[in-house]
Amino acid sequence: MTELIQDVDLADPQTFNGHDLTDYWQRLRSESPVHWHPPLGKNPGFWVVSRYADIMAVYRDNVNFTSERGNLLVTLLAGGDSAAGQMLAVTDGHRHRELRKIMLKAFSPRALERISERVRVNTRKLVAEAVERGTCDFAEDIASHIPMGTIADLLGVPAADREFLLTLTKSALSSDAADTQEMDALMARNEILLYFGELVEERRRSPGDDVISVLAGGEIDGQALTEDEMVLNCYSLIIGGDETSRLSMIDSVFTLSHHPRQWQLLRSGEVGLGTAVEEVLRWASPAMHFGRTCLKDTEVGGVRIAAGDIVTLWHSSGNRDEAVFTDPGTFALDRTPNKHITFGYGPHFCLGAYLARVELSELLSALRTFSQGFEIAGPTQRIHSNFLTGFSELPVRFEPDPAGLAHYNETRDAVS
Ligand code: HEM
Repeated sequence: MTELIQDVDLADPQTFNGHDLTDYWQRLRSESPVHWHPPLGKNPGFWVVSRYADIMAVYRDNVNFTSERGNLLVTLLAGGDSAAGQMLAVTDGHRHRELRKIMLKAFSPRALERISERVRVNTRKLVAEAVERGTCDFAEDIASHIPMGTIADLLGVPAADREFLLTLTKSALSSDAADTQEMDALMARNEILLYFGELVEERRRSPGDDVISVLAGGEIDGQALTEDEMVLNCYSLIIGGDETSRLSMIDSVFTLSHHPRQWQLLRSGEVGLGTAVEEVLRWASPAMHFGRTCLKDTEVGGVRIAAGDIVTLWHSSGNRDEAVFTDPGTFALDRTPNKHITFGYGPHFCLGAYLARVELSELLSALRTFSQGFEIAGPTQRIHSNFLTGFSELPVRFEPDPAGLAHYNETRDAVS
């Protein structure tokens, strides 16, 4: 039994490819909740924290743990993150608080009200058109447009550049294919940084009310942000907000197609959109882990952690912890309370959580308005990653709701 636990290599994307790790996580939570993952290949060893309470404790503790040496397994194992101290997610202490304060201005209720309305209009349009066509690749035709469109709105990216940026982000970050060349990814990342460099210059000359302009006007301790800081933090919104939201949306459709009773509860309105969104987020847990480096000798769950150790926090396990969630392996859209850790916790709690919830809520709302139901219509494709989980291809066949579509088309025609 112990051998089996030791054999699982959490750094290898292949470990997650089509393998159900439910039993593995369940065993870790009960037998070795703060588990030493041995060094494998050229990777150093690291701690694997699988219980909800221990995960929360590490997230909360930014005195004994830092994000400045990376917050993902890939950067932690490589020995650091080149954006440390500049990009919000990998900056700590005073600078993190100040930078977060600046960025929060762009996430103000006023700015988000306008953006949320655009999410609503775009999502309804994409879903209504796909349902009318009858079939689509949900990942490509719907989900890939919503989060990127939202982030592009936040950043004020001109409409003409959006398709180009989407292509770049796909090769820069993903995980879609096992054979994505590291060089292609690197070049795409550089192109994105160059693109934002130009946009930053332009916004400095003529500011608007987008994130870039907010960053351009921001100061920490009387000093303006450097161009590198601005560019990296624009980029971080794409890294943080695109694929995670996209994968949650795709997962919601996949999961609902396999849980007809839950779909009926949602469609009939017996379950509210707000509670449904939280369960979809818990269930999908698109970011499987985040991580920290220990700064001072300390303890987690009674286990001694030494300064310098890498500690990884597994949402895929914490969100299924039987000590916190009743029947954690049941997808129940009416689950309350539902204090999942999909968006993390503590000082680095996800900046885009509100927006991600809006996106999912609008998606579920559009699905139940325009469609009576849907099914998976062909082979699906999973992404290849040790950080994110979900599908890159999801062929779907819809059963239209004629009344919902007719009403949409009438009101749309009336507006246009
Ligand atoms: C941070 C998850 C959507 C921007 C985080 C963290 C998690 C997370 C777990 C904490 C990381 C850590 O503690 O090291 C998710 C998930 C999303 C999502 C699951 C979708 C379902 C978004 C969106 C945006 C965004 C839509 C922006 C538009 C960020 C940023 C941070 C962050 C900037 C860093 C915050 C900080 O360090 O203070 N996200 N996120 N995220 N997220 Fe999200």
